Amino acid sequence: MIRQPSAWVNGGAGWVANEATYDRAFAPVTDAILQLADLRVGQSLLDVGCGSGTLLAAAASRPQAAIEVADAEAAELATSAPYDRVVSRFGVMFFDDPTAAFTNIRRATAPNGRLTFACWRSLAENPSFTNGSSILTSRMADAADTSALTPDPTAPGPMALADADRLLGLLTDAGWRDIMIIPFDFTLDYGAGRDGVEARLAVILATGWGARAERLLRPEVGESRWAGLVAQVRSHLHDQLVDGRVQLPGATWLVTAANSAIS
Ligand SMILES: C[S@@+](CC[C@H](N)C(=O)[O-])C[C@H]1O[C@@H](n2cnc3c(N)ncnc32)[C@H](O)[C@@H]1O
Repeated sequence: MIRQPSAWVNGGAGWVANEATYDRAFAPVTDAILQLADLRVGQSLLDVGCGSGTLLAAAASRPQAAIEVADAEAAELATSAPYDRVVSRFGVMFFDDPTAAFTNIRRATAPNGRLTFACWRSLAENPSFTNGSSILTSRMADAADTSALTPDPTAPGPMALADADRLLGLLTDAGWRDIMIIPFDFTLDYGAGRDGVEARLAVILATGWGARAERLLRPEVGESRWAGLVAQVRSHLHDQLVDGRVQLPGATWLVTAANSAIS
């Protein structure tokens, strides 16, 4: 049984339910990781926090994938190690002890093997985490409690690696070298017109602050007011269409590093 970190447990069901939407919205990130990872036939590959495995499947068609389900913070990470390439799309920000996890990942990597991953930059640069859901959270009793909306920036969670200096320090402490942290901006595209609005609305209500609002606010305000609030989110999304599509800017770090091969 793999321990699921508390920082991720609450997001899992919503992520799985909206897998196709995320895969479309994150497609530019998937492509960027694949380009940077320098995958070649014959290499072995580990995808950390692979989720439903979209990046793994795309990457596996290039080298040779050894599929392993493991807790990256556990000391004995890999049974198929050492891996030539380690990749991750938004799967490395939930560690309680990031230095231990990145050290374990490095120890499972071949000498001169490479790590390539994408993680989010700051909440301020990523409106997809609040756009639409803020209409719901602003109605909540704890809306004035800004600490609820701006958690500890180093706590496990989507933005845990947003500070590039901290990220560089963590990877250095974990023994990685030749570390490159590159800003990668992209557009999250949820689809055209009504379909795009419904896809985005489903994500808002299934994950993060929107899911929290549904859980806490819906029973409090009752069905009819809740339906009115959801209608407000829907019309907000319609009003914001760009070229007829639901689109939001995304800001990530693309990170590569090499194994220094010290234990
Ligand atoms: C935001 S999801 C990303 C999923 C997938 N990479 C994608 O892009 O669709 C985060 C993933 O990290 C995984 N994860 C979190 N902490 C982990 C740990 N300590 N070891 C292994 N996987 C972990 C979760 O189970 C989840 O699949």
